[in-house]
Amino acid sequence: MKPLLAAINRQSTPHTPVWMMRQAGRYLPEYRELRAKTGGFMRMCQTPEIACEITLQPIRRFPLDAAIIFSDILTIPDAMGLELTFVEGEGPSFAKRIGNENDIAALPRIDPINQLGYVARALELTAKELPSQVTLIGFSGSPWTIATYMIEGGSPKGSFVLSRRMLYSQPELLRALLDKLTEAVTNYLIMQIDAGAEVVQIFDTWGGILPAQSYLDFSLAPMSTIIRRVQQHSPHTPITLFTKGGGQWLTAMAASGCDCIGVDWTTNLTQARNQVGHKCALQGNLDPAILRSPPEVIRAHTNAMLQSYGNHPGHIANLGHGITPDIPPEHAEAFIHAVHDFTSE
Ligand code: CP3
Repeated sequence: MKPLLAAINRQSTPHTPVWMMRQAGRYLPEYRELRAKTGGFMRMCQTPEIACEITLQPIRRFPLDAAIIFSDILTIPDAMGLELTFVEGEGPSFAKRIGNENDIAALPRIDPINQLGYVARALELTAKELPSQVTLIGFSGSPWTIATYMIEGGSPKGSFVLSRRMLYSQPELLRALLDKLTEAVTNYLIMQIDAGAEVVQIFDTWGGILPAQSYLDFSLAPMSTIIRRVQQHSPHTPITLFTKGGGQWLTAMAASGCDCIGVDWTTNLTQARNQVGHKCALQGNLDPAILRSPPEVIRAHTNAMLQSYGNHPGHIANLGHGITPDIPPEHAEAFIHAVHDFTSE
């Protein structure tokens, strides 16, 4: 079995598998070159040959155990008609935002195969090209995280004022939006699995800004519904749940039925493992800022991270959040090699 699939099933592996969130992206000169030629981030996502090529770029450079399909969590609101654009250096922006009942009522149900079929085609192309030991990962944003972008009209500013206002003043509106997104994310992930994704990850980047009870009700509950429905369709495809800032809710996350929990760098892996036991694999969690340090510092911190998980099956090494554009590729390489060196039999 592929090392990452074995680890996610809590089986022992010849080495700890490793990949990096945001491994396909701007820290790679070959990505920047292709982006300059192609013009436009969404154009790259929507052209399966280009998305496949970018997915493979980090795989050609490093001995990674997984490839994550090149796409974005904001393809769903784009398909719902919010008109997504990415301005260089400014992040995502929507032409329309979601502010009231009418906006939510007007949101169409999406048909992933017709509207987001470019992601399925990119997965199919990539599945054919990947080395045999590399696992192909599909992904989506969580309903709550996607909703924050739709409500804020782009990158959440400051303290998520608009999203939190809706949460507290009009929770029924937020619920209606989350219901629509829950259905869309479920069908989107099922489409990705049918196209060749061997693991799917739900990115709940902003679940950690919520009070505990609101996290359970408005972020974890929709994700649990998605997990149940995806598992009904594909009982053997593992699902990873990554809530940034979710370290205090690991027991509740494990009860969602997910196979793996992604943890950020603020979480102690020993404690996390004690909490979730054998129920879930754990993925993470080197602070991506450590990759700015010299390779010997990266190796030392990587070793400490591996030690804190301990010598048990069920660990997938990763960063605690995405790699940033300023990281030299050699530093990413030092991290990946360190994981394999320290854990090979
Ligand atoms: O991980 C990978 O390499 C696969 C591709 C991937 C991208 N975005 C490509 C991308 C994945 C898994 C994402 C997820 C994503 N997108 C998240 C959740 C994960 C996280 O980091 O918390 C979020 C919040 C987004 C939304 C988004 N997309 C933002 C805020 C931005 C702009 C700022 C930034 O971090 O780059 C993007 C753009 C984006 N998505 C780029 C890439 C490679 C850069 C686009 C460019 O070339 O200008």
